[in-house]
Amino acid sequence: MTTLFDPIQVGDLQLANRIVMAPLTRNRALPGNIPGPLTVEYYRQRATAGLIVAEASPISPTAQGYLDTPGIWSDAQVQAWQQVTQAVHAEGGKIVLQLWHVGRISHTSLLPDGEQPVSSTNQTAKASTFTRDGFVPVSAPRALRDDEIPGLINDYRRAARNAIAAGFDGVEIHAANTYLIEQFLRDSVNDRTGPYGGSIENRTRLLLEVVDAVVGEIGAGRTGIRLSPMTTFTAPLDSNPQALYGHVVEKLAPIGLAYLHVIEGETGGTRTPEGKAFDYEALHKAFKGTWMVNNGYKKELATSVLASGQADLIAFGRLFISNPDLVRRLREGAEFNALQADKLYGGGAAGYTDYPTLA
Ligand SMILES: Cc1cc2nc3c(=O)[nH]c(=O)nc-3n(C[C@H](O)[C@H](O)[C@H](O)COP(=O)(O)O)c2cc1C
Repeated sequence: MTTLFDPIQVGDLQLANRIVMAPLTRNRALPGNIPGPLTVEYYRQRATAGLIVAEASPISPTAQGYLDTPGIWSDAQVQAWQQVTQAVHAEGGKIVLQLWHVGRISHTSLLPDGEQPVSSTNQTAKASTFTRDGFVPVSAPRALRDDEIPGLINDYRRAARNAIAAGFDGVEIHAANTYLIEQFLRDSVNDRTGPYGGSIENRTRLLLEVVDAVVGEIGAGRTGIRLSPMTTFTAPLDSNPQALYGHVVEKLAPIGLAYLHVIEGETGGTRTPEGKAFDYEALHKAFKGTWMVNNGYKKELATSVLASGQADLIAFGRLFISNPDLVRRLREGAEFNALQADKLYGGGAAGYTDYPTLA
């Protein structure tokens, strides 16, 4: 029976165990959206994970929506990320970068020349974001024109190329948590006509063009993707999530991606939202490739899901924030450190690199 501690080949990557550090935004980048020395230390401390999915990183200046997130569009960012990837590799770890475009979850004060956020729609999300002035409502977006999409796809292509130049073992395309790609996927947000709106096929087009570009740049064996069919974070669910995400997975299956990463239930909340059943196993069966699951996993559930073959990899988020040696603690059945919830977003070493390891 498969356990958390068994090695696995994932696309081009040989992982030492099945324990993944989920992508976690920590808002500690330096001016220029550059990961600094504390970030190097933070990831180094967690390198015993079979795989680290490094925090969501904007693919361009217009892709950012929160203060002090590290980017992957400039040469200075590539050089700074090299320090992170070298530190993780020196400890024998593997690390991929999550490629992010927030779409309409942004604020003009965070964008170049105070420009508007872009999305599938010009409807404003009922959501807040974090800026220099604290939490503020997101700005009104403008709908991308169809003729702007090739430029957007190029930004993803450049980001993937930059990630490899920065020493990452691959990338995870962020198609979850109601950011840009999901703003195109869901009919609760996407009100376009034309090739990127209307039918499920059309709403899936942007996602597939992004995947095609990234895979063309760095190879399918280094490319993963993250989905969250039942997450309502900044947008309502699609009118038919099972049909929508069923189509997405059917189209992804033949590409040979390194893995598919699915958040089960409401991200960071209930795994089984009341009255909103979703058949994840149907997606898993259709995908056939390496299946990563996340959301509220503890040792017991993770162990049983791996043993029964319902998943190949388990991603842990909050437990990895507060337990740099999570792998060892899981192995030894040790207690976990408590999460310092007031130190998640922004700040310095406190609540970031100062969580204790076992003696
Ligand atoms: C502080 C924090 C930052 C997060 N940042 C990201 C992110 O950058 N990208 C992403 O896809 N999910 C992000 N998430 C969601 C987590 O990856 C994960 O899905 C969630 O915490 C549920 O897993 P857990 O129960 O193991 O913590 C974040 C969650 C938290 C708590």
